[in-house]
Amino acid sequence: MNHNLKEIYTYAMEWTKEAGENIRASFPKTLNVTSKSNPNDLVTDIDKGTEQYFIEKIKGKYPDHRIMGEEGYGDEVTGLSGVVWIIDPIDGTMNFVHQQRNFAISVGIYVDGEGMIGLIYDVVHDELYHCIKGNGVLLNDKPIPELKESRVSEAVIALNALWVAPNKRIDHQMFIPLVQDVRGTRSYGSAAMEMVYVATGRIDAYLSPRLAPWDIAAGIILIKELGGEATDLRGNELDLLKENSLFVSKPGLHSEILKHYLKDGKW
Ligand code: IPD
Ligand code: CA
Ligand code: CA
Repeated sequence: MNHNLKEIYTYAMEWTKEAGENIRASFPKTLNVTSKSNPNDLVTDIDKGTEQYFIEKIKGKYPDHRIMGEEGYGDEVTGLSGVVWIIDPIDGTMNFVHQQRNFAISVGIYVDGEGMIGLIYDVVHDELYHCIKGNGVLLNDKPIPELKESRVSEAVIALNALWVAPNKRIDHQMFIPLVQDVRGTRSYGSAAMEMVYVATGRIDAYLSPRLAPWDIAAGIILIKELGGEATDLRGNELDLLKENSLFVSKPGLHSEILKHYLKDGKW
C-alpha cells in the first residue's frame, strides 16, 4: 500500500483543530456525565461526539484506514497492519469535567505498526503539538528543540500520588526512593499532557503503572522524535494492542532510573 503521509498529516491536523473548536464551543453547555468501569472513570457526551466526529471524517476520506478509539465507535483492532489511527477524543476527562482545562485530544497514526504521525492538542490553549516522523516536532508552527540529557537529582517527574500509597495495582514502596531523590513531583491528570510536558522539557519524566494504547499512542511518537525514551516500567518495548505500564523520559535519565530505581520493582 502506498500512503500519502503528507496528505494524511494535513487532514489529521485540520480535523484535530476542528474537533477542538467543537469542544471549546461546548463549554457554556451543560455536560452529560456518566461513569464507565468505576465511579471515577468518567465519560461525557463530548468525549463520544468527538470520537464519532473523527470516525466520520477518517472513514469518509480513507475507508481502508482503521481506527482504535477509546469510546468504542471505531474498529475492533487486533493487529497493526495498514494505517491505524489510535485516538483518545478527550484525555483527561476528569479535568475536562471538573476544570475545563488540562485535557487534550490525542491522535497517533501508525503504518504497519510504526508510529508515523503524532498529534496532541491542548484545546484550551489552542496549542497543537505535532510531528510526522523524521521532521521534528512543532508546537503550532514553532519547532521544539531536541531533548537534552538530565539526571535524577535535577529532575521534575510526573507521577500520580496514588502509586506512592498502598494500592491494588503495584507495590507502592517501589516509587518511594525515586520520589525522595528527584527535585520535585507533579501530577496533571492527563497522560497525553504529561507526555507533551516531557516532550517540551517542562518535566523530565512521566511514569504510570497502567495506561491504554490511546493514552500513549501519540505521545510516544512525539517524545521519540525529540530523542527521548519511551518504554514500559521494565524498559521493554510498548505494545499498542494492549495496556502497558509507561516510563517516558529525557535521555540519560531513563537508564539511570531503570538501573537504580526500577530494577527490583514488583508490579
Ligand atoms: C486518563 C488520564 C489519566 C490517567 C488515566 C487515563 P481519560 O484518561 O490520562 O491521567 O491516569 O489512566 O485513563 O480517561 O481521561 O481519557
Ligand atoms: Ca485517556
Ligand atoms: Ca479519554
